[in-house]
Amino acid sequence: MSKKKLWLHGLLWWSLLFELASGASFYGDGFVQLKATESSDHNTLRIRFRTSSTNGLLFLAAGQTDYFLLELHAGRLQLKLDLGSGEQVLHSERGTQLNDLAWHSVEIRHVQHNVTLTVDKNSHTSVKMPGSHQDLNILDGLYVGGSGGLDKLYLPRNLIGFPRLHG
Ligand SMILES: *[C@@H]1O[C@H](CO)[C@@H](O)[C@H](O)[C@H]1NC(C)=O
Repeated sequence: MSKKKLWLHGLLWWSLLFELASGASFYGDGFVQLKATESSDHNTLRIRFRTSSTNGLLFLAAGQTDYFLLELHAGRLQLKLDLGSGEQVLHSERGTQLNDLAWHSVEIRHVQHNVTLTVDKNSHTSVKMPGSHQDLNILDGLYVGGSGGLDKLYLPRNLIGFPRLHG
């Protein structure tokens, strides 16, 4: 299986697990770790979630210095991404609270230096990554709903797992 397939496979599994987890109840100390060793300049992440929590980690792809950290932050999505040439932060639209217990879909597409965040198929925000690096190197795995105590300088001290997804 090629590395790209493995990554897609991982994501597929991940969405499945996440839907299962959110169909039941997902507590702050629960997390899912998927093994992934990938380095790619093309990545797509699609997820669906519903919650009443304003803050929590949804998804983390962790590398040595590279990372892809998707959180719900004050009811909005916040993506922090570093491909090795500095961090960029993307937010979902101001004024739309996503912690309303309705299902929301998120798609994040990374193609070389371009990153686009699409919420509910109609709201787009994008950003251009700085510098020469355009591969996401994520040797330290994919995490869902919590970081499992992973210790990285780039992770915020107060990083909480996803408090609870109501199913
Ligand atoms: C990145 O975005 C710019 C501006 O929107 C576009 O012109 C360019 O073709 C994009 N590059 C890739 C690789 O998608």
